Amino acid sequence: KKVIFSGIKPSGDLTLGNYLGAIKNWVKLQDNYDSYFCVVDLHAITVKQEPALLRKRTIEILALYIASGIDPEKNTLFIQSHVPAHSEAAWLLNCYTYMGELGRMTQFKDKSQKLGESISAGLFNYPVLMAADILLYNTDLVPVGKDQKQHLELARDIAERFNNLYSPTFKVPEAYIPERAAKIMDLQDPTRKMSKSEDNPNGYILLMDTPEVIKKKISRAVTDTVGVVRYSEEQPGIMNLINIMSAITGLTPEEIERKYTGCGYAQFKSDVADAIVNELSPIQGKVKKLINDKTYLEDVYKKGAEKANYVANKMLRKIQKKIGFIPR
Ligand code: TYM
Repeated sequence: KKVIFSGIKPSGDLTLGNYLGAIKNWVKLQDNYDSYFCVVDLHAITVKQEPALLRKRTIEILALYIASGIDPEKNTLFIQSHVPAHSEAAWLLNCYTYMGELGRMTQFKDKSQKLGESISAGLFNYPVLMAADILLYNTDLVPVGKDQKQHLELARDIAERFNNLYSPTFKVPEAYIPERAAKIMDLQDPTRKMSKSEDNPNGYILLMDTPEVIKKKISRAVTDTVGVVRYSEEQPGIMNLINIMSAITGLTPEEIERKYTGCGYAQFKSDVADAIVNELSPIQGKVKKLINDKTYLEDVYKKGAEKANYVANKMLRKIQKKIGFIPR
């Protein structure tokens, strides 16, 4: 079986963008792959985190994976810091990555601009740790949103460089980016990515938002004066809502356009809100139940770490040997 690896940072509450861009596709792909789904806590601390909140969010994301339909019996769910090979491999790969490459990462440039003075070295090295995550598992496919594409390309470059320098060691992974949900946009500014770190909460939908809040946020979403539900670059707000509906229902944008010919924005928005609520409500219910079942979740992440450690350590030994370290 081919291998999938992906992960989410426990650095804030998750948004509809995280769900549609990543998790929903993992659920679809899981049956055909040997999958590793990770909660990347080591990545979260590249920016400041409150310890109690970090703990809470790490468990919540694990619960969310399961609540969304990822089967912990068939897939490996684990917490990144429970597999020390990730940190070790990140150091090694750091020595095969150039400062220039990391300096060109747009996510680093954006984030460091916002942070001003307090940019950690970890934030700069972030994509190397991500490369380590992926390369340790002989990963074929990495299902992520479009914003991670550049990081994935760097992981491929690092893999190829190492393979050329020594001998074939790493599989060179491919990105899997969903067609409609590649980049869910901010509801208040549809030229920007929907993100939990934006200031205006009306711009994003959180996965745990109540139906009332979801309906309110969608009804306030910025649209245009065209007044026609059409999938067009000139109507970025409507285009975004069509993408959301398409990702949830599986209808194509054309089918959605047809369904809403002659229909006003208010009705369309109300249907988009209903689609989101119908998708998220059952998941929210399951998350709330799972969160209280601490022993079950602990069992899942411990089993996951055991499997992940086994696979990752094997690859780590291989890397160390190629480099010329004395076997322990
Ligand atoms: P993170 O935690 O920022 O986001 C998790 C996933 O959600 C996707 N995503 C979106 N997709 C569509 N529209 C949006 N508005 C949107 N916002 C977020 C992201 O593309 C991502 O797939 N570096 C990664 C985590 C990571 C990782 C990895 C991923 C660490 N190691 C190895 C894959 C493989 C990140 O920060 O994702």
